[in-house]
Amino acid sequence: MAAVKACSVLITGANRGLGLETVKQLLEDSNCPKRHIFATCRDPDGPKSEALRELAKKHPSVITIIRLDADDPCSIKESAKKVGSLLGSNGLNLLVNNAAIVARGTIQTSSVEDMKNTFNTNVIGPLLIIKEYLPYLQIAAKASGTPGLSCNKAAVINISTLGGSISTMPSFFDQFPVLPYCVSKAGLNMLTVLAAEELKADEILCMALHPGWVKTELGGEKAPLEPKESVEGMLRVIGSLTEKEQGGFLDYTGKTIPW
Ligand SMILES: NC(=O)c1ccc[n+]([C@@H]2O[C@H](COP(=O)([O-])OP(=O)(O)OC[C@H]3O[C@@H](n4cnc5c(N)ncnc54)[C@H](OP(=O)(O)O)[C@@H]3O)[C@@H](O)[C@H]2O)c1
Repeated sequence: MAAVKACSVLITGANRGLGLETVKQLLEDSNCPKRHIFATCRDPDGPKSEALRELAKKHPSVITIIRLDADDPCSIKESAKKVGSLLGSNGLNLLVNNAAIVARGTIQTSSVEDMKNTFNTNVIGPLLIIKEYLPYLQIAAKASGTPGLSCNKAAVINISTLGGSISTMPSFFDQFPVLPYCVSKAGLNMLTVLAAEELKADEILCMALHPGWVKTELGGEKAPLEPKESVEGMLRVIGSLTEKEQGGFLDYTGKTIPW
């Protein structure tokens, strides 16, 4: 099984759902004994971050909780300054853009507010996060001293969804009428492809990953997958990425998803 050996990892929306499960599994994994996890969330002191605070209390040398609101460019900038001051000379190996919101709607029912909110959190947020953290990813790519692309060197993983696949989503639209979410995730997919194109010169890997349909607040109770299984799969995929997957779109089993 491919392993994530990235030493410094930053995850957005790390206080619950798939983000929190990713922090837990990276903690249990012994592939990088000196791992540091920057677990970011928009309200570190709030009730929704209690589980993350408990985890960080138990592992103070591994987890640092950082405030990052994907809707707020100032908080993204502030978070990058803080993380930059804590990172060593090896930079940031792995950035996981996981935070997202969902909004339901069809052509006839989607509101301007829902379109703007999903775009802010799911597209503009990840764009600004990549931009602010780019210097640390560049440092990691240079410091690694290894050829090629990998998540252990420097990588951006955008957590996307099958709902952002323009060729696949129409057949599911009846079952999942979440137009604002799907349009925003299709935007995130394009952002991923263009980021991969721009960042390849810096030897930074960039790709989109679909976690499957998972039981979380976003996925709902009917989802067939548990967060544990989804995140195990995603970490296996992330650990196995090479330059072949640059600008690609895979699911948690490693299967390619058509755009
Ligand atoms: N679950 C599924 O079936 C499924 C399927 C396909 C794709 N995905 C994708 O997987 C990722 C994780 O989803 P999930 O299922 O874990 O959802 P979730 O349980 O609803 O968690 C969403 C996370 O995003 C955070 N978040 C929302 N807006 C934010 C903002 N403005 N700034 C910072 N954090 C923000 C939430 O923080 P708060 O606690 O502060 O709200 C929470 O930590 C998302 O990108 C989602 O699109 C999920």
